[in-house]
Amino acid sequence: MTQEKNKLTTAFGIPVSNDQNSLTAGRRGPVLLQDVHLLEKLMHFDRERIPERVVHAKGAGAHGYFEVTADVTKYTKAKFLNQVGKRTEVFVRFSTVGGERGSADAARDPRGFAVKFYTEEGNYDLAGNNTPVFFIRDPLKFPDFIHTQKRHPATNLPDADMFWDFLSLTPESVHQVTILFSDRGTPATYRHMNGYSSHTYKWYNAKGEHFWVQYHFKTDHGIKNLTLAESIRLSGEDPNHATRDLYSAIARGDYPSWTLEMQILTPEQANDFKWDIFDLTKVWPHAEAPPIRIGRLVLNRNPVNYFAEVEQAAFSPANLVPGIGASPDKMLQARLLSYHDTHIHRLGPNYHLIPVNAPKNAPERSYQRDGFMRVDDNGGGGPNYWPNSFGGPAPDPATEEPPFEVGGLAGRYPYRFPNDDFVQAGNLYRKVMTDTDRDHLVGNIVAHLGNAQKRIQYRQAAIFFKANPDYGRRVAEGLKLDVSELERLAGMTQEDRAKATDQGTYS
Ligand code: NDP
Ligand code: HEM
Repeated sequence: MTQEKNKLTTAFGIPVSNDQNSLTAGRRGPVLLQDVHLLEKLMHFDRERIPERVVHAKGAGAHGYFEVTADVTKYTKAKFLNQVGKRTEVFVRFSTVGGERGSADAARDPRGFAVKFYTEEGNYDLAGNNTPVFFIRDPLKFPDFIHTQKRHPATNLPDADMFWDFLSLTPESVHQVTILFSDRGTPATYRHMNGYSSHTYKWYNAKGEHFWVQYHFKTDHGIKNLTLAESIRLSGEDPNHATRDLYSAIARGDYPSWTLEMQILTPEQANDFKWDIFDLTKVWPHAEAPPIRIGRLVLNRNPVNYFAEVEQAAFSPANLVPGIGASPDKMLQARLLSYHDTHIHRLGPNYHLIPVNAPKNAPERSYQRDGFMRVDDNGGGGPNYWPNSFGGPAPDPATEEPPFEVGGLAGRYPYRFPNDDFVQAGNLYRKVMTDTDRDHLVGNIVAHLGNAQKRIQYRQAAIFFKANPDYGRRVAEGLKLDVSELERLAGMTQEDRAKATDQGTYS
């Protein structure tokens, strides 16, 4: 290094003589094309924005560690989990889902809870949400669902009709809708909420035995939520309140932490289980699969540069390490493709070289080469094909996932296994919520659903009625609907209810 540290240069290290006055022809003349510093600066600026995430665009992140607190080696051979007390570096990003990159942190929306573990066997990503379930369970519905959460194609406004039209025609959403419209739909901060895998994943041990698991990161700071009035106020007063809270807490040494609890089922228990464990709209009741504590997640370091570390962070459910596998959950299966695909679009084919995404504790040794922005040594002069006899990296059969059974006739099957879509939403309303929770839930729904067409209000209220008659009735009363219609509509098949509410009778 011959140059002094604090001297300004171009991107190519050439000294810059003046960064305040453009080079002009004479004192009042036009700018010269020869001002290459100005040109370089503007052209880089013109390209500063990358595509925002198609979902989860607004977020905040931080670094930290995960520590194992219980022996789980009988369930998984994942090395980062193989010893009590073992710590693994992590990067975590929290987000809202539907809003754009500048949208308010206080919006009613699920919150993303994405964890990247930099393990010694490569990066393991767990991209979950703050809700244990989701709106849909078939990936064919995902793009449509997301469209309804975004802006209307003509008005470019959020639209209550499209929001509730889709949900009321997709009754399996009622469980997640009930959580979303409770005050848990507006968490007070990212520190005061839980994170769930939502999906079932597979763990397998060194003997090749497998287990079905669900992850629950429980906040150590207690659940705190915003009321509707508070969320509206904060959206205006401080649209970045949760981003600010996370950064400030870490900056003052008040490190956010979560306890990881696992629900674990043997294949035999899963076979006899009351609920379809691959249906993302269902939880595993705690009484039937008691959660066990296995670890602790702590965030203790803020990013130094938001764009480098948070905006460029890329999580993928396909990044699974030996000992952890996918389940046949159809949503998860689709996510195995979608994230890597969108990262290649958003960040380019070599996004795994960006430091926040690089597998820092298990360097990449592959035969993938070239592509835009290949910024490492690109494999140097080593072999770029396999098999080779020049000492290139070789696959390790010991890391293979044990074979698993598949079978049956290929087809497009709906979920049919004892699969009542209304029971768990009803239990949540009846058994878990307090009177205040229920009052807020109904009020939050009425305030939002009230903006949709009447016929859609009827269809959705009938779905709440199916979950719990009191729930549906109170929503209907709040919306000033004819309550006597609810039972009739709720008793219909989904198809008949859709037809009945399409006919204008309820407009
Ligand atoms: P439990 O009584 O054992 O569990 C209820 C759980 O609900 C609590 O442990 C808490 O989970 C969560 N909870 C509490 N208040 C609310 C709220 N206002 N909104 C959303 N969730 C809340 O009963 P079950 O396990 O039989 O579950 C009953 C219902 O609870 C389910 O149908 C589901 O809607 C909901 N639930 C269940 C979870 C599970 O994994 N079993 C997880 C979350 C919700 P936590 O401590 O994780 O916050
Ligand atoms: C982000 C697709 C379901 C959690 C994303 C992104 C896409 C996507 C394309 C943007 C990624 C990026 O640009 O970096 C899908 C598809 C789904 C699905 C196709 C279903 C078929 C889910 C579910 C969860 C979830 C069920 C939670 C359990 C997340 C999180 C992020 C995200 C947390 C943000 C990650 C980050 O912070 O960068 N999803 N998603 N998604 N998704 Fe999904």
